[in-house]
Amino acid sequence: MTEVLTQDAAGLARAAELLRAGALVAFATETVYGLGADATSGRAVASVFEAKGRPHFNPLICHYPGADAAFAHVVADPRAQRLAEAFWPGPLTLVLERREGCPVDLLAGAGLDTLAVRVPAPDFARALVRAVGRPVAAPSANRSGEVSPTTAAHVLAGLDGRIAAVVDGGPCAVGVESTVLDLTGRQPVLLRPGGVPAEAIEALIGPLGRGIPLAQAEASRTLRSPGLLVSHYAPALPVRLDADDVAPTEALLAFGDPLPGAGAVFNLSASGDLTEAAANLFAGLRALDAEGARRGLLRIAAMPIPDRGLGVAINDRLQRAAAPRGT
Ligand code: TXA
Ligand code: MG
Repeated sequence: MTEVLTQDAAGLARAAELLRAGALVAFATETVYGLGADATSGRAVASVFEAKGRPHFNPLICHYPGADAAFAHVVADPRAQRLAEAFWPGPLTLVLERREGCPVDLLAGAGLDTLAVRVPAPDFARALVRAVGRPVAAPSANRSGEVSPTTAAHVLAGLDGRIAAVVDGGPCAVGVESTVLDLTGRQPVLLRPGGVPAEAIEALIGPLGRGIPLAQAEASRTLRSPGLLVSHYAPALPVRLDADDVAPTEALLAFGDPLPGAGAVFNLSASGDLTEAAANLFAGLRALDAEGARRGLLRIAAMPIPDRGLGVAINDRLQRAAAPRGT
């Protein structure tokens, strides 16, 4: 079912066509195979989480053909410029603030105001992203909980039949994921060690701070307070789950037929489609936050979402939003 494409002009044209149509295409980077999706399409990004069987949404890395294209979507300070000059194309991911009007879908960044960007080393990967004409969001191309793939056969072992195509680029040269560096604060923070050693980065921009390694933080079920983790967008309004009625003082996050009587409504999916609901989740929470503030509403009431497929990840995020807040 999954097409196996070759790294040539025909493979490039087909892969770009599929990605532009919102389908998922795995391709080789220098680190690991990425599961690519049009980063500007909420539906395409939602189907990445679906294909991986991820029980939660975490922010994905957006791949660009070059630094100019990346820095058109995020704010690059002189540190980012220097690092890009030294290490791009290559296994370094920079977390930077999104620019106003950045077209990357909110789900790709898990609702955050920041975005992780990188320029992959292989010529083919960059040519592919350029041909798509939009940034390509790509987590590692494995099922959730399995190890990252470094050959097309590894990708097929986990995802055959679940994705449109894989471009066989042979084994990945680096074999570990990119280094993830957060440059949104004054102190740069290493979020994930990877292909570019920390010392090489420090040689250019000075000492790095230590963050909560995101994978560890995400795995830890004890850290329930949404505000604590950089990867968790939390709405400003409190959230009430499993609403089967709604007050005029509440903003309704609806799924299916909306409950009557809310002070404001955002419908995740009128037809009850979980992929559509996932694609709309962060935009919906933000819209209700803004509308709630304008109208002086007290909280967000969320209608029940079926706990299957992408509904598991939607419910995970809503439960975090509803959990008691830290200080
Ligand atoms: O080498 C790689 O980076 C591969 C290839 C395919 O490019 N991609 C990859 O993506 O490893 P993924 O989704 O498996 O890992 C993305 C990492 C996660 O640790 C995630 O939490 C972090 O980057 N990340 C993404 N966006 C972020 C953001 N806005 N703030 C903080 N961390 C972010
Ligand atoms: Mg991964």
